[in-house]
Amino acid sequence: MTSVDGKILSEKWGSDATVKKLANKFEEVHEKIGVKAWIVGRTTMEKDFTDFAKPILKKGHQEVDRKDFVAEHQSDSFAIAIDGQGKLGWEEPEMEGDHVISVLTEAVPDAYLAHLKDIGVSYIFAGEKVISLQTALEKLYALFDIKHLMLEGGAHINGSFLNEKLIDELQHVLLPIADGTIETSTLFEIDKDIKREGATLLKLENVKQMEDDVLWLSYTFKY
Ligand SMILES: NC(=O)c1ccc[n+]([C@@H]2O[C@H](COP(=O)([O-])OP(=O)(O)OC[C@H]3O[C@@H](n4cnc5c(N)ncnc54)[C@H](OP(=O)(O)O)[C@@H]3O)[C@@H](O)[C@H]2O)c1
Repeated sequence: MTSVDGKILSEKWGSDATVKKLANKFEEVHEKIGVKAWIVGRTTMEKDFTDFAKPILKKGHQEVDRKDFVAEHQSDSFAIAIDGQGKLGWEEPEMEGDHVISVLTEAVPDAYLAHLKDIGVSYIFAGEKVISLQTALEKLYALFDIKHLMLEGGAHINGSFLNEKLIDELQHVLLPIADGTIETSTLFEIDKDIKREGATLLKLENVKQMEDDVLWLSYTFKY
């Protein structure tokens, strides 16, 4: 979801009722798309979902293998965070009714893993010190049967998936808001040191005009 100038930080848009109503289009479209697994970067998860909770380390001496952990879960929908360093403070194994899966590197402390196991949060390892998105996707498919995944920001995780050509389609909610700030993030942010190619071309597949002058644009990627 962006402003017409591609900005994604809704807190920059003020707090009047019209803006709030527009920002709610995100959830509306999320529900309509209906994909059962969603994935976000650590920053988005802590800001928009876990309320900046600090990581919890189990007390005492802990030794935990670097083996992926699939916790028992009733839900067949998943909330997934890319959190290489284990910075998120999980207290429950569900987020908004979806089973939590944390994508970690092997660098996280044993006491952090012990806590996740205790509370029933699943975790997978996708790299020794740095996250490999490809590995993460392969494991999410192999261990949780996740074939269709909704990537929901923020800017940097979107940019990293784009950089590695891992996005098949874009569902873009375009709000009738002009942001105008210079320093805030756009839909895709890729650090110049890792950016592999120039711009990526997309194919417009569908345009839907929603209420309140909102456009829902569907694209596929032409890598
Ligand atoms: N408008 C919208 O549709 C929308 C949607 C979602 C989020 N948002 C907003 O976006 C903002 C957050 O965006 P953001 O760009 O700052 O953060 P982000 O993309 O949510 O998270 C970035 C973090 O993810 C971790 N990460 C691990 N591997 C990565 C990789 N390969 N590439 C990128 N990140 C990786 C890193 O955490 P570590 O630093 O711990 O390693 C990195 O700092 C929030 O304000 C949120 O509200 C808007």
